[in-house]
Amino acid sequence: MMEERKTKDFPRSDSASGSSDQVVRTIGLSKSFGEVRAVADLDLSIPRGCVYGLIGPNGSGKTSTIRILNGLIRANAGRAWLLGEEVPVHVNICRIGYMPQEMAIYAELTVLENLELFAGMYSLNKESLAQRADALLDMIDLTERSDSLVSTLSGGMKHRVSLACALVHDPELVFLDEPTVGVDPELRMGFWDHFSDLKRAGKTIVLTTHYMDEAVRCDRVGMMRLGRMIAEDTPRGLMESTGETHLEDVFLHKAREGSA
Ligand SMILES: Nc1ncnc2c1ncn2[C@@H]1O[C@H](COP(=O)(O)OP(=O)(O)O)[C@@H](O)[C@H]1O
Ligand SMILES: [Mg+2]
Repeated sequence: MMEERKTKDFPRSDSASGSSDQVVRTIGLSKSFGEVRAVADLDLSIPRGCVYGLIGPNGSGKTSTIRILNGLIRANAGRAWLLGEEVPVHVNICRIGYMPQEMAIYAELTVLENLELFAGMYSLNKESLAQRADALLDMIDLTERSDSLVSTLSGGMKHRVSLACALVHDPELVFLDEPTVGVDPELRMGFWDHFSDLKRAGKTIVLTTHYMDEAVRCDRVGMMRLGRMIAEDTPRGLMESTGETHLEDVFLHKAREGSA
């Protein structure tokens, strides 16, 4: 079954997926942890320049999907491509940013040292880093704390540093797993201004969020439940097709349909 779909959509060469403007593609992606089906037969197609929101309750498979796409765990079935290259082995990580849900920055380094460390991993030179660091510190509102040890920052501040580290190499595709959790409302909106800037610059952002006021700002939204994609469209399309006026209600509507 999988082979049939794969062959139909991407005949022979994987570069066929590279010619497309879909910067994220998955076909039949599945992942189980023992009895738990974390991701179930997921087909994703995300165009370049899109701000794409994956939403769904805890445990619906959002993080597992992002981890597969970033090569941290292997799918049990299905195939995936980022920027036209098959995951996990062929992707140039310098073109991709990833902010994990769990904190992945170094507590014993300062804010700036963390940025330098990530910049080094992505082979960014010193001049480029200096330029990027100022703008990123400003975005996360931590210019004053650039020389503070991360261990001395609040949870929300650490979260912001983690976001800056994911963006330090100016990736063309970035995955942000709950980037605004624990971030106060004003700064959250500041993040969204920055996401809009990235989008204008032609970057693609795939994010997860629990905030519906953020989901509604995405170009497209994928609603996940029990590892499956139960609905996927523009926020307006989702609302129009269900007759609902809030995305929460669209989700409940689709969840009811799915279990009917
Ligand atoms: N490493 C793991 N080992 C065992 N179960 C896992 C692991 N990672 C995720 N799961 C399970 O997979 C399901 C999906 O989790 P996750 O992808 O984290 O969902 P979400 O990000 O939507 O909250 C959950 O039932 C979770 O408990
Ligand atoms: Mg998660």
